[in-house]
Amino acid sequence: MTRILFIQPDGSEQTVDADPGQSVMQAAIGAMVPGIVADCGGACTCATCHGYVDEAWVGRVPPPGSDETEMIDAGCFDVQATSRLTCQIRVTAEMDGLVIRLPPTPPSA
Ligand code: FES
Repeated sequence: MTRILFIQPDGSEQTVDADPGQSVMQAAIGAMVPGIVADCGGACTCATCHGYVDEAWVGRVPPPGSDETEMIDAGCFDVQATSRLTCQIRVTAEMDGLVIRLPPTPPSA
């Protein structure tokens, strides 16, 4: 089991257990993390699973592909250098303790 910490814009925290192989988005949806909507179900076409990878984890999470980067630019509010679509981050055992921060503007979907 891999633990992922989600931090809301107001500072509230929620730790979620994730299984290696599932996406960070799937773990968030399973635990009903506010702010992760995942309208497209993980197809990288909705941008409603936006989160920021904590600075301490940026180099330890595989970088986004071009499809993800384009969708972030086209569909996300409050984009930062650490913005990711959480459906595109595959959980591994090495990600135990991963920290994802939720953006201040919730998805509209
Ligand atoms: Fe739609 Fe991630 S769930 S882009």
